Amino acid sequence: LENGLARTPPMGWLSWERFRCNTDCVNDPDNCISEQLFQTMADLLITEGYASAGYEFINIDDCWLDRRRAPDGKLVPDGKRFPNGIRALSDYIHSRGLKFGIYEDFGNYTCAGYPGIIGYEKLDAQLFADWNVDYVKLDGCYALPQDMDRGYTEFGKLLNNTGKPMVYSCSWPVYQIYAGIQPNFSAIKTHCNLWRNYDDIQDSWMSVESIIDYYGNNQDIIAPNAGPGHWNDPDMLIIGNFGLSYEQAKTQFAIWAILAAPLLMSVDLRTIRPEFKAILQNRKVISVDQDPLGVQGRRIYKHKGIEIWSKPLSPIYHHFYSYAIAFINRRTDGTPSDVAVTLKELGLASLNGYRVEDLYENVDYGILYPNTKIKVKVNPSGVVMLRAEVQFSFL
Ligand code: GLA
Ligand code: GLA
Repeated sequence: LENGLARTPPMGWLSWERFRCNTDCVNDPDNCISEQLFQTMADLLITEGYASAGYEFINIDDCWLDRRRAPDGKLVPDGKRFPNGIRALSDYIHSRGLKFGIYEDFGNYTCAGYPGIIGYEKLDAQLFADWNVDYVKLDGCYALPQDMDRGYTEFGKLLNNTGKPMVYSCSWPVYQIYAGIQPNFSAIKTHCNLWRNYDDIQDSWMSVESIIDYYGNNQDIIAPNAGPGHWNDPDMLIIGNFGLSYEQAKTQFAIWAILAAPLLMSVDLRTIRPEFKAILQNRKVISVDQDPLGVQGRRIYKHKGIEIWSKPLSPIYHHFYSYAIAFINRRTDGTPSDVAVTLKELGLASLNGYRVEDLYENVDYGILYPNTKIKVKVNPSGVVMLRAEVQFSFL
């Protein structure tokens, strides 16, 4: 969507995977979906250094609404959990220099059963603008997938007509794929800034692997749709929660960066362990994700549990790109696997060479040439991630 927004993949925090639809503020006040949770996460985004690493959105997911609209048709938040209203929360987040996102659903209900936008599209778009919302995730439960080409397009136009710039996150293709409809990606990338293609992420390595496989197996259809202003969304980062080991967390972050994915953390920033925080704040990997070319990377090799993923990056010299390369080890046989490959085999053919560095370990390989063989050791369910920067000839 060419609305001037999301020129690089959006970065921020989103409540869903970690906090779900916890509405029990009586028994679980610190973890329920409430204004306090979002205020706290906004504060921590700044005080814990996430904002300076590039994370800027604080996004509400499902379960913020009251079960009913107001008599005038307007959406209202749950009064006990958002006693000051959404505009006040939005103002709080903006006063911290951050941006504010909200969740709704194209259908009759949100996935958790709260009111959807059908029949109230214009009113809701205007209300989001009045609340100074910067990002709208529009889900697709309780709706007909065959209506989505029309409905998602129309709501996008209504958002645009308000004059308030809002990133538009769509679930349009994933529900169509489930219904056996081949999504019209040229329409989707014209009308949305990002979109989901596949299942919800859950707090497990199995879930992360299934997403990695989906994006690898379907990359010829999916990858070309990504670019500045329009991104595939493989779903939230679950790094720092319960389900991923340290190695697996590094792998999720590396592959999401290769995929030019939105980096939306869904984690408790109050209790995250320092090693996971360091992964989420790894600026070298973030800059792969945020590379201005906005080319989504691909799986270029897969054999016996070893995969190599590659993403073209700037700078470019003549027609030679720089690259991020991720070696991942899906084997479970317990010892690190050696992978040896020449730069040429990775598609790096410039005779000027490449400056190669490791993005997680402090290893600088210096300048390497197409025929140089590079050898890495990849831990089980782990990753080695390199950046190869093309060298310029000054002759
Ligand atoms: C769907 C979406 C999730 C989340 C939930 C909320 O499952 O895919 O990301 O928004 O709904 O109910
Ligand atoms: C459901 C409802 C219909 C209509 C569609 C819209 O099927 O029963 O009345 O609103 O959703 O997608």
